Amino acid sequence: MMIKKAWWKEAVGYQIYPRSFLDTNGDGIGDLNGIRAKLDYLKDLGIGFIWITPVYESPNVDNGYDISDYQRILSTFGTMEEFDLLLEEAHELGIKVIMDLVVNHTSSQHPWFLESRSSRKDDYRDYYIWADGQLDGPPNDWTSIFGGSAWEYDEATNQYYFHAFAKEQPDLNWENPRVKRDVFTMINWWLDKGVDGFRVDAISHIKKAPLETVTADDPFAPFKNVTGIENHLEELRDVFKQRDILTVGEANGVGANEAQQWVGTEAGYFNMLFEFDHISLWNKTEQEGLDVIQFKQALTAWQQALAHGKGWNALYMENHDIPRSVSSFGSEETVFWRASAKALALSFLLLQGTPFIYQGQEIGMTNMPFQSIDEIDAVDTRNFYYDMLQTGVAPEKALEIIRQTARDNSRTPMQWTAEEFAGFSKRQPWLKINPNKQSINVLDEQADPHSILNFYKEIIRLRRENEALIYGDYTLYLPEHPQLFVYGRRLGEERFVVLINLSKEFASADLPENVHIEDWELVLSNLTGRKIQQHTLFAPFEARVYHFRNE
Ligand code: GLC
Ligand code: CA
Repeated sequence: MMIKKAWWKEAVGYQIYPRSFLDTNGDGIGDLNGIRAKLDYLKDLGIGFIWITPVYESPNVDNGYDISDYQRILSTFGTMEEFDLLLEEAHELGIKVIMDLVVNHTSSQHPWFLESRSSRKDDYRDYYIWADGQLDGPPNDWTSIFGGSAWEYDEATNQYYFHAFAKEQPDLNWENPRVKRDVFTMINWWLDKGVDGFRVDAISHIKKAPLETVTADDPFAPFKNVTGIENHLEELRDVFKQRDILTVGEANGVGANEAQQWVGTEAGYFNMLFEFDHISLWNKTEQEGLDVIQFKQALTAWQQALAHGKGWNALYMENHDIPRSVSSFGSEETVFWRASAKALALSFLLLQGTPFIYQGQEIGMTNMPFQSIDEIDAVDTRNFYYDMLQTGVAPEKALEIIRQTARDNSRTPMQWTAEEFAGFSKRQPWLKINPNKQSINVLDEQADPHSILNFYKEIIRLRRENEALIYGDYTLYLPEHPQLFVYGRRLGEERFVVLINLSKEFASADLPENVHIEDWELVLSNLTGRKIQQHTLFAPFEARVYHFRNE
């Protein structure tokens, strides 16, 4: 089947975590005007749309993912007028704007919840999930994704409410048609404003199992991709379907076997998903190195499930919830840092799907050498740290684990320059700047033709200029090779092959029979200043792209 064309299949996305992008008014916190100021930078990089994480009114218990008013901009970030300007200026440059849609839960300060908790008889009571306690405890043993019980006791009405995340993030009750009606009205309000789509937060959690459900291996199973969710998602899809927008669901717990149901071309709920399979391979407490075979399997399962026009997907290696990919999957060591960041870029940007680059990834930003828990802001990480201490883990050990897993690793301010506050702000920002801003920053990388930044630009340009890299078939070669990730893209006569050594050691390979590298033209390589020795020998983290020469 031919793949149907769409703008959101051709564009490359860029995720902005506004708090850490650029501060223009000197309060140490990034803002909407900061995004406006960098639109040219994004245009130059080749970005077709931005996804902005929540900028709505919020008490910021979970940095904006606890929304108290869906239709207002948090004053720290700016005003609605500034948002409108941002939208207009982005559109003028041909950059679309995707908003974060957080509708699994609200803030406990949202007027709906304030009403809901005020009385059992309140008109808004059923906007949230309330239940009686059992004996002297919560309604059941379900635990929150952010640690502790998923139930919070509310004295005023002597009942518990459910929260999948922090206790200040009560879950909306999607079984209540009024909730859906209000949520859909809000969605249309933003679409009428002209935004180009949504990244739909935590959407696999909107359906809850019956409260009697006992948790087994996976403590979050009773509220993760639970049967019956399809009814809610179909209604949501019907709202989205009215417009030509990009929708990407965050889908923890959804496997490749369900890919077609969720993002199939005809009836899928979203255009694409952020799946968790490949990312969970390094979401471990201890650094174990990358299992290249498993990594290829995870990515390939999704590529194949959606191949030949069956559906589409989102491609990513980083976001605001996970540590920096170069630290987890590549290497921070000086000799490997640059090559490994480039190798990782090629391991997702040219697959079939819509790539999302997370701010700072394009310059190879790394994890933060946190010195103390006081330098951590993220609520889940703090809970996790203190839980570890309670169970007897030594503070040094707990900190070491945190250093590798904390979400704040990727939330440190964007490194624009080597200046004191990295060109991000005029004062000490809300989260400490990584000391490596001296060597890792936009300004220096712009000037260096071999920088990671310029390599990203080249890959994006290559993708834009070759339809085979967008709409072509995907083939995995050498699936059992423990170091190399080799894949092909093909559209009619147009053929590309991408070869990446994802290890710190030299790797050699017998190339697939139909890939005689001698007949191919090398179009991209991350070997700077060195010549390829032998076509079948790969230096640590060496990565190449070949194009088949049509004689
Ligand atoms: C998503 C967001 C994360 C947030 C959570 C709760 O996973 O990406 O940052 O904490 O949802 O809204
Ligand atoms: Ca600011």
